[in-house]
Amino acid sequence: MADALQNFIDGKWVDAQDGERFDVFNPATGAAIATAPHSKPADIDAAVAAARRTFDEGTWWPGTAARRRGRILLNAADIVRREQERLARLESLDVGKPIAEAREDIAEVAFMFEYYGGWATKIAGESQHVDADAMFMVWKEPVGVAVGITPWNYPMMMATQKVAPAIAAGCTFILKPPEQTPLTCLELPKILEEAGLPTGVFHVLTGFGETAGAPLVAHPGVDKIGFTGSREVGKLIMRSGADTLKRVTLELGGKSPNIVFADADFDAAVEGSANGVFWNQGEICSAGTRVFVERGIYDDAVNAMGERATGIVLGDPSDDGITMGPMVSREQQERVQHYLEVGAGEARLAAQGSTPQDPSLANGYFVPPTIFADVTNDATIAREEIFGPVMSVIPFRSVDDVIAMANDNDYGLAAAVWTNDVKKAMRTAQALRAGIVWINDTQPAPTEMPWGGYKQSGVGRELGKQGLDDYLEEKAVYLNLS
Ligand code: NAI
Ligand code: MG
Repeated sequence: MADALQNFIDGKWVDAQDGERFDVFNPATGAAIATAPHSKPADIDAAVAAARRTFDEGTWWPGTAARRRGRILLNAADIVRREQERLARLESLDVGKPIAEAREDIAEVAFMFEYYGGWATKIAGESQHVDADAMFMVWKEPVGVAVGITPWNYPMMMATQKVAPAIAAGCTFILKPPEQTPLTCLELPKILEEAGLPTGVFHVLTGFGETAGAPLVAHPGVDKIGFTGSREVGKLIMRSGADTLKRVTLELGGKSPNIVFADADFDAAVEGSANGVFWNQGEICSAGTRVFVERGIYDDAVNAMGERATGIVLGDPSDDGITMGPMVSREQQERVQHYLEVGAGEARLAAQGSTPQDPSLANGYFVPPTIFADVTNDATIAREEIFGPVMSVIPFRSVDDVIAMANDNDYGLAAAVWTNDVKKAMRTAQALRAGIVWINDTQPAPTEMPWGGYKQSGVGRELGKQGLDDYLEEKAVYLNLS
């Protein structure tokens, strides 16, 4: 099975103009499962021209009523629910994530469409009288042509959390999915077309960062970039987007602290701390990879988390019985293996799971879940984002001590705090320089809740009402009544 995938530009399924393609792999076996268009600047120009024209002619916004845009998104939610199992299987196959986790992703994708479908009819401006014969209004208008450049860890979610608010706002949209995992993103045009989206509003082009992503960022016809991915590429995008002063939102990585106080519910904290690093193979921007444990429970917690790590079952992600799949790509596998070597020289290997024995998975990109203990906060494995199933456990003695260490990192995406003392929980949450703080939990990212980073973890917010605001401009209209 090697499907020849196509781009979706201006309502048509097309190849790259030069006909070039690249391979898409099943990470559990290393086998090629599809080919996708290797899009270049000529393809980008075609998509931007179509998205620009559709926006500028005004038939979509303001020509289409807000309730129509809302209805399209609500229809899309229903279609995603109808197709949930098929989409979850596709996502699991492409990313290598356990099928049970893929089902949760797709359920949230459906809800994202529903949530922003509801917002479409609630986008409202304001007005104010400033004098006896003067007033102004503030109109909310779409930013125009928006582009989403998205990563491979949650392909359909990362795309939808940009596409759905953009459509609610009245933007036109071009998606550049990750080269590793384009399959579910190429389902989006079919879903939105069936949902009633007019031709020319939504376009998808597959390709690589330098040849397809960068020309979109530089393109003068694009008004906004919504990016999720690595910090390095985020910096390139901000720099290149500056030439045309694009609206840029960036959701980058993290090295998130997960703080376990001695008075926490021990079992819940251990279970949560392990899940916060091992879910989705650890390929999560907000993974709680720096696990700080208070001295009094340190040895017990390291042992208990070690049991969780060795109990993880790696295997074929389509199998309901497994709890961890392979890394998304050979490149990512090698990157994580490199950090395992670095960690072995910096800290104590406390626990390590095993990779699958099944010969059919021998070429899969598996990495064993690993816990390093007695890590210092300045070690490489405690500073750099690994994006794999690797936990660094760091002991601490006091609240001040752990807050100082938790904040001593260039990233600031998320943090988790485990304690039964509400004052300690709130004081710690207040002191943490992070965009998301979980108390007695880790990783929930409900669509209603804003998501984004402090410091070098990003700029702007996705999800929630904030995730809609970034697709809107404000126009102040002053009226002289004299
Ligand atoms: P990446 O940042 O290179 O890729 C993300 C997206 O950006 C992809 O669609 C890619 O094609 C595009 N891109 C790459 N270079 C570009 C450029 N110059 N201009 C415009 N678009 C460009 O991430 P990659 O290489 O897949 O993973 C490397 C590391 O990044 C991971 O190990 C992890 O640490 C981090 N990462 C963080 C993610 C997050 O959720 N915040 C997601 C994926 C990766
Ligand atoms: Mg890259």
